[in-house]
Amino acid sequence: MVSAVAENVILRIAVLAGDGIGPEVTGEACRVLEHVSNLDGRMRIELTHFDWGSEYYLRHRVMMPSDGLDQLAGFDAILLGAIGDPRVPDDVTLWGLLLPIRQRFQQYVNLRPIRLLAGVPSPLANRLPGDIDMLIVRENSEGEYAGKGIFLNEGTPEEMALQIGVFSRRGVERVLRYAFELARRGGRSVTSVSKANALNYSGVFWDRMLDEVERDYADVPCRRLLVDAAALHMVLDPGRFQVVVGSNLFGDILSDLGAGLVGGMGLAPSANLNPESLFPSMFEPVHGSAPDIAGRQMANPLAAIWAAAMMVGHLGFPEWGGEMVRAIERLLAEGTVRTPDLGGTATTGEVTEALLADLRVPTGSVVA
Ligand code: NAD
Ligand code: IPM
Ligand code: MN
Repeated sequence: MVSAVAENVILRIAVLAGDGIGPEVTGEACRVLEHVSNLDGRMRIELTHFDWGSEYYLRHRVMMPSDGLDQLAGFDAILLGAIGDPRVPDDVTLWGLLLPIRQRFQQYVNLRPIRLLAGVPSPLANRLPGDIDMLIVRENSEGEYAGKGIFLNEGTPEEMALQIGVFSRRGVERVLRYAFELARRGGRSVTSVSKANALNYSGVFWDRMLDEVERDYADVPCRRLLVDAAALHMVLDPGRFQVVVGSNLFGDILSDLGAGLVGGMGLAPSANLNPESLFPSMFEPVHGSAPDIAGRQMANPLAAIWAAAMMVGHLGFPEWGGEMVRAIERLLAEGTVRTPDLGGTATTGEVTEALLADLRVPTGSVVA
């Protein structure tokens, strides 16, 4: 990781804007990063853009060049928009780019903050800012997303698909420990989500690993929920959730549910972390390429900008990451400039302009 105290640090960022609204929202996140880079006297953010994605696939029949991951390995971090295009099957696009990045770079934590901010209406009645404030820690390198399986007896009545989940001791233990450490640092509780009643191998194994890890964190309150019950409680009583840890698929589903509780996909950021920083981490909004609104300047850029804030914090500049999030909070609290998903009429670009007009140089940083 880049040192926070070093002078003249260059943060080298690979930008994969991707498909649909990906380039629209990532373009706005890049504008904010360029602004920060110009304001700060200690660091410079250097953005390198890659045109990999579905258009690239339609030209080359691959989502990225064969040495694509090697090219990315040399960057400090990756900023991603979204992948997915109605003209190409989703399993081809996602397994051609996004999922190999998460796996190869051992980004085994997918950290997804779900926070209700002032000025944003929740679909749940009578919820105030602070009432919903959880961190979803999603296992991000194996589990149901191991990508292993087989089609059998194709074209016959006995046709079937086997999708193999992989739950390893190393994989489950490290993500559970990450969740407990995060909870301990923030004085929060852990809720572990699994499904050991039906999933008699992977679910049982997850809970057994939790038994082991939990012993090292007697000071961290921990409870367990079956994933179906977790979905119910998240709607009825979201305040009970602080740090939520679950497998790849469960974390994926619960993070869209959580996003829905706090204003929708336009306000849900995510960090794919390699906590040891042996490889670059990747930052992206939780949302996809939203083909239904792509190309119309309607997309909310705030999830992408928030993801960029998480990136800047991860790379050693938490004061800037914090200020970027506070600028998002001030914009939403002020309430006049917002995209249609939040009931406004502003364009994607107008939201960024309003945010930039109010972005301050944080205390503790050096002015350029
Ligand atoms: P989606 O997240 O793209 O869209 C779901 C709904 O939320 C849509 O109605 C969309 O208009 C809305 N929405 C999403 N982001 C928004 C934003 N920033 N501002 C305003 N509204 C927003 O999910 P989907 O429709 O299920 O998937 C579309 C494509 O994206 C598929 O190809 C899917 O595989 C892909 N996908 C990619 C990623 C990724 O690259 N990380 C994530 C999710 C889905
Ligand atoms: C997400 C997305 C991806 C996932 C898809 C596009 C493979 O839904 O980042 O949440 O399931 O991880
Ligand atoms: Mn998802």
